[in-house]
Amino acid sequence: MSQMDAVRLLLIFSLIAPSLSIGEDVHLLEFKESLQSSSALDSTWIKGTNPCNQDKTWAGVDCRDADYQSVSALLLMNMGLNAVSEDLDIESLGNLQNLRVLSLENNSFSGPIPEFNRLSSLKSLFLSGNQFSGEIPPGYFEKMGSLKKLSLAKNKFSGKIPESLGKLGALMELMLQHNEFSGPIPSLEQKSLEKVDFSYNKLQGEIPQSLSNVAAQAFAGNADLCGSAISKQCNGQSSSPPSPQSPPLPLPKEEKGTVSGMTKWIILAVVVTVLLVTILFKVKKKDQDFSLLVKEIPKENLDEAVQAVQVHTASTNRRSLSSSSHRRSLGGGGGGNSYNAMGSSSSKSRGSNNGKSVNDLVVINEEKGVFGLPDLMKAAAEVLGSGGLGSAYKATMANGVTVVVKRMRDMNKLNRDAFEVEIRKLGRIRHMNILPPLAYHYRKEEKLLITEFVPKGSLLFVLHGDRGVSHSDLNWPTRLKIIKGIARGMGFLHTEFANYELPHGNLKSSNILLSSNYEPLLTDYAIYSLISNTHSVQSLFAYKCPEAVLYQQLTPKSDVFCLGIVVLEIMTGKYPSQYLNNQKGGTDVVLWVRQAISENRVAELIDPEIANTADSMDEMEKMLIIGATCTESECGNRIEMREAIRSIEEVLA
Ligand SMILES: *[C@@H]1O[C@H](CO)[C@@H](O)[C@H](O)[C@H]1NC(C)=O
Repeated sequence: MSQMDAVRLLLIFSLIAPSLSIGEDVHLLEFKESLQSSSALDSTWIKGTNPCNQDKTWAGVDCRDADYQSVSALLLMNMGLNAVSEDLDIESLGNLQNLRVLSLENNSFSGPIPEFNRLSSLKSLFLSGNQFSGEIPPGYFEKMGSLKKLSLAKNKFSGKIPESLGKLGALMELMLQHNEFSGPIPSLEQKSLEKVDFSYNKLQGEIPQSLSNVAAQAFAGNADLCGSAISKQCNGQSSSPPSPQSPPLPLPKEEKGTVSGMTKWIILAVVVTVLLVTILFKVKKKDQDFSLLVKEIPKENLDEAVQAVQVHTASTNRRSLSSSSHRRSLGGGGGGNSYNAMGSSSSKSRGSNNGKSVNDLVVINEEKGVFGLPDLMKAAAEVLGSGGLGSAYKATMANGVTVVVKRMRDMNKLNRDAFEVEIRKLGRIRHMNILPPLAYHYRKEEKLLITEFVPKGSLLFVLHGDRGVSHSDLNWPTRLKIIKGIARGMGFLHTEFANYELPHGNLKSSNILLSSNYEPLLTDYAIYSLISNTHSVQSLFAYKCPEAVLYQQLTPKSDVFCLGIVVLEIMTGKYPSQYLNNQKGGTDVVLWVRQAISENRVAELIDPEIANTADSMDEMEKMLIIGATCTESECGNRIEMREAIRSIEEVLA
């Protein structure tokens, strides 16, 4: 596997598991690209490495507040960075989902204020000590409701101080000193304000009552300001001296604001705590899986190795993908020890269970030969990534067969015998658009599912992985072939498992693999009934359909919704925001398509890469409408799978 492939895989899994930091390297590097001078970043900002690696973080990148899973702060002060504001790639920063603090202090940025206001989750924005200039639009801060600290000091900003600052309900610090702001100071009545500085500008007029208790030095160097705060009369009238007894705002308003504000904060704190506990718990679990999987565990001291690995998990899994030697053996040597390396963190089970481990892998489909756990253990393996249900890796065995091994957690709904019956049922399926499992391994705490490795990778990767390189293959006839194949596979599953609540349950582009001639192969189907843990169940994509989100209700029509998303994804070439857990990033394809259809702009939706096939425009539009019909939010009005398949079959190339 080439370095390029490793990077691609990285990208794919960054899309599958947005909670991981994987993929943020790409966004950071895009931002770096937009700078004119950025040599201070050259030595540590390296593509394919983990920006959050605790041993070797990227310069100025801080991930602590996102539990080292994702970038939470960019602290790029004093780095000799330089760019004109219109060149700055703010969009790439917008892809950093956990970014809350941005500092570009003491660099040489110039030009009008860039669109930092698109980063609407920012809590702190520090731009002081640059050459930014010009007026800031009055409504600039309207969408930055999370902002607590803002520093624009020591730049060349001019014009009025933007009024929208007054609407920032959480603002605590506002540093505007040493600029060329003119006009009056807007009234800033938020109770949260703790620290303000307006000194050394060209401000004029009366200092608002709400700021009358601020120390005078915060207004120094503005010859034309007046008001009680600086004990200077306005327009010859004697300003009333500041009175400590009378608050600047009417009391009832203040009281009311404080109480409801308090309640809000308490609720927020509780929610955040619960979330944090959940996330920490989840992350820890994930780490354990990865550490045991990736690291070679020495025979001598398994427990110690496990501990050491847990500390460095994030870096380990990243390194195994991006270092020049991608391959590492999963086993510590002989079969017995390898068995330990696979799963058991207890040193007790270490020893001579070579025979047992062979039996522990149950081959249900012998098309690719019969193999056992020791064969897998000795195989060269690469981590593919981690999703909601577990992690996956690719292993090439000595007999030349390459397989994908998925470690599935939380699959204890059925006992061992029932599990076996169910998996054998899934494995018996023979259909050209379905990829059945080859083998499984059963232990109480974890199951392994082994499937054949499909070289072209997932539809997700082919569509979004590296646009421009292999995309020319993805013409309209190919896309139609893919959609029809998916529909046929779904049709088969909906017949075979007609009595299941969710015959597929997890249809999305990352679970659709493409054969060398672009024949789609569905994976991860019909596993809904195996999953014991409610949290894991919810990572199935069917849980993103409206009836599940709103009423926790799932029906075979939920699969229709998922099919619709894939159809829209293929036709528009856009990454659906529905695949993400929060709505940041991607395109809400359902909403976008619905709007465009209502405004008669269907043609604009089609991926520009195929839109030039003008003579097929009608058929492509037909397919888009089918996608829209499948994603009808009212489950009762949504078409049945049968109908969806029939409509798809009617579309011509
Ligand atoms: C920026 O430079 C000023 C003056 O040189 C210094 O006082 C300030 O601490 C610097 N800011 C940061 C964040 O280093």
